[in-house]
Amino acid sequence: MKRTTPVVPAEDIRRQMGYCDELRALNARRPVPPLAWVDTYGCQQNEADSELLRGMLCEMGYQISDTEQGADVIVINTCAIREHAEQRVFGNVGALVHGKRRHPDQIVCLCGCMAQEPHVADRLRQSYRHVDLVFGPQALWRFPELLRRVYLRRGRVFETEPSDGAIAEGLPVRRSGKLKAWVSIMYGCNNFCSYCIVPYVRGRERSREPEIVLSEIRALVEQGYKDITLLGQNVNSYGKDLEGEMDFPALLERADAIPGDFLLRFMTSHPKDATEKLFDVMARCQKVAPCLHLPFQSGNTRVLAAMNRRYTREGYLEKVHALRQRIPDIVLTSDVIVGFPGETTQEFEDTLSLIEAVRFDALFTFIYSPRKGTPAAELPDPMPKQEKSANFERMVAVQDRISLEKHRAYIGSVQRCLIDGTAQGPDGGLTARTPGNRLVHLSGAPALIGQFAPVRITGCSTWALSGELAR
Ligand code: 5AD
Ligand code: SF4
Repeated sequence: MKRTTPVVPAEDIRRQMGYCDELRALNARRPVPPLAWVDTYGCQQNEADSELLRGMLCEMGYQISDTEQGADVIVINTCAIREHAEQRVFGNVGALVHGKRRHPDQIVCLCGCMAQEPHVADRLRQSYRHVDLVFGPQALWRFPELLRRVYLRRGRVFETEPSDGAIAEGLPVRRSGKLKAWVSIMYGCNNFCSYCIVPYVRGRERSREPEIVLSEIRALVEQGYKDITLLGQNVNSYGKDLEGEMDFPALLERADAIPGDFLLRFMTSHPKDATEKLFDVMARCQKVAPCLHLPFQSGNTRVLAAMNRRYTREGYLEKVHALRQRIPDIVLTSDVIVGFPGETTQEFEDTLSLIEAVRFDALFTFIYSPRKGTPAAELPDPMPKQEKSANFERMVAVQDRISLEKHRAYIGSVQRCLIDGTAQGPDGGLTARTPGNRLVHLSGAPALIGQFAPVRITGCSTWALSGELAR
């Protein structure tokens, strides 16, 4: 098969780097280096995109700040997945107007998924006149050019035309962590689940070349990264647009063969494409962490069909069974939506019974939020909000009980954990992660951060484990 995804030509990336040089020269004339603040909402893909934005800002001569106070450039990287996330963004962007009055040269940018929604762009254009630059995820690699345009002309720039997107390689990156790193392996989504805005704002599925992904992982391992998460909206369709035979299990196996002591994680997996081949590879590969995030969304087959998920309740349960046969202690997490339009309480009971049947380690639970332009937003939605909230609370209570029971089962065991930081809050201490990514609190010297160490689990809550060094 021929590669079907366009790749941004290297000379176009070089041109962007040229704009970075030009802005750096302009910024160097200032008495003090200008500051930039990037604020991120939403998923890990947005976190990864923000690391690229910071990388480009550094190339342009900005210092990265962790607050909006005194920032010369503010970039709000937004999420459109639910109404609540959007409201927070509008509230916080609105509040920036005061800072801009004090600091009229400040440049305010809004990017990410919201920027690609036509009604959001219109609202920003009309009612948020202090926002100077708006650009969608597909235009991310052109940030230097767009920022330069605002910088030089002081006019507003909107780069929000719909686009399927291309692959841009060779952008600078400034990573936030020293132990954990994100590696995007693909962008976009082709699934069009009927409730989801992502395929409309992030364009079509497109995969990065395996050699580029693998050399990025290799470099991260050489730099000392210990926990590497491969990212994609649906990693299981990796490679479908590439020449040759490469698919996600094959990529994972090649990443596992990279020498070094590190863990590989990945997200997200669509159940319809999670194959036994993937489970075999996960079981076989030493560095692939024993955990899987496998969103089920609903436990009722009619609702799943209305969601356009293309699997049934039984199909999902069979996948979980096949996975557990190979990796009995796999840590399973999932996403679920309550109150999809037309979901009855009887159908919701099927979601509860699936949760009881699978016993996930943790769940990310959402109440359905209508997204303009998606098919589900057009469906009749008779269930009152209160009833949805009551169902939601019941579900959370069931999962909290299961999470606690699952955590209790760790007590007395010794887990090889990555000590990854210090805990926030008055008690201090260290934090660590089990191979399955459960959070562990323990006491110990900060010098241990960055090491894998055996930890004996001695206690737990619904959310976390606690333990002590076992050596
Ligand atoms: N309403 C509620 N939850 C949603 N998700 C995606 N779209 C919506 C929506 N419109 C949830 C899904 C997805 C997760 C990232 O967010 O569960 O897996
Ligand atoms: Fe949205 Fe479905 Fe694509 Fe996930 S797989 S991003 S839920 S459309």
